[in-house]
Amino acid sequence: MHYPVLLPETMEWMNIHSGGVYADLTCGMGSHTRALAERAAPGMVYALDRDAESLAMAKANLADGPQNIEFIHTAFSEAPRVLRERGVGKLDGLTADLGVSRVQLTGQRGFSFSTDGPLDMRLDASQGFTAAELVNQLPERELANLLFNLAQERRSYVIARALVRNRPIHSSLQLAEIVSRSVPRTSHKLHPATLTFMALRMAVNQELDEVTALMEALPELLKPGARAAVIAFHSGEAKIVKTYFQRLHKEGRARLLTKHAVKPTDREVFENSASRSATLRVLELV
Ligand SMILES: C[S@@+](CC[C@H](N)C(=O)[O-])C[C@H]1O[C@@H](n2cnc3c(N)ncnc32)[C@H](O)[C@@H]1O
Repeated sequence: MHYPVLLPETMEWMNIHSGGVYADLTCGMGSHTRALAERAAPGMVYALDRDAESLAMAKANLADGPQNIEFIHTAFSEAPRVLRERGVGKLDGLTADLGVSRVQLTGQRGFSFSTDGPLDMRLDASQGFTAAELVNQLPERELANLLFNLAQERRSYVIARALVRNRPIHSSLQLAEIVSRSVPRTSHKLHPATLTFMALRMAVNQELDEVTALMEALPELLKPGARAAVIAFHSGEAKIVKTYFQRLHKEGRARLLTKHAVKPTDREVFENSASRSATLRVLELV
């Protein structure tokens, strides 16, 4: 089951006009893409995702929906290039719903501590290094720094030592068990390996670098008056978005429309507890 996060709020803030050209930079299961396409028709929506499996699911989900969508398999750091190659001028607006979807987390690609699968974690299976390569090859200190810097895992050194001692590690359940054995459970809600899995996924997909590249590309991607709506879940990503949006605002190049980040309603959090840490920020280019 996939729950789109902050969907009505995002559409409201986007101020979409019929006939405009928009991009959903993180198509996922296609919920935001569908909403954009319905409002922008007969204009176009370019729907990007670096995960080919997600894109295929979105295409299937939207097969009977609006047809003014072009799906593009790419990382959003490549958005300026792929749109230029298609002759698309500047956009009337874009959305990005960062991170991964529940469908990806529960699949068998190594993202989950509760489903077994090879320790891969690449969103784009054709690129880069796997989580197994990281846990099996990084020196202990670098592994600990990675866990601390990307997920603020306070027990990073203990976990890194356990990982190095138990090499080779090839599957997600094996990784989850090693972490669980090495540190005491401190929360009933949080599995002890939650932060380890998140840090590895972020490192494998270079997620913070991707967000920085996107922020730097915003003035190139958007028309004057166009809006960018970005949803972040991870505090590091939210901080990058906030800092860039504030900087563009201060430089007079854009208006930060959301003085305070928009959060899901209590009702949304009740229905989908995973939405609780989501924050939406919206910028309008001047
Ligand atoms: C939270 S989900 C989006 C869900 C979507 N808004 C929906 O309602 O169906 C995030 C999506 O972004 C994709 N993604 C993550 N990083 C990306 C990147 N750098 N470039 C393109 N897509 C990315 C993931 O593969 C995932 O499908």
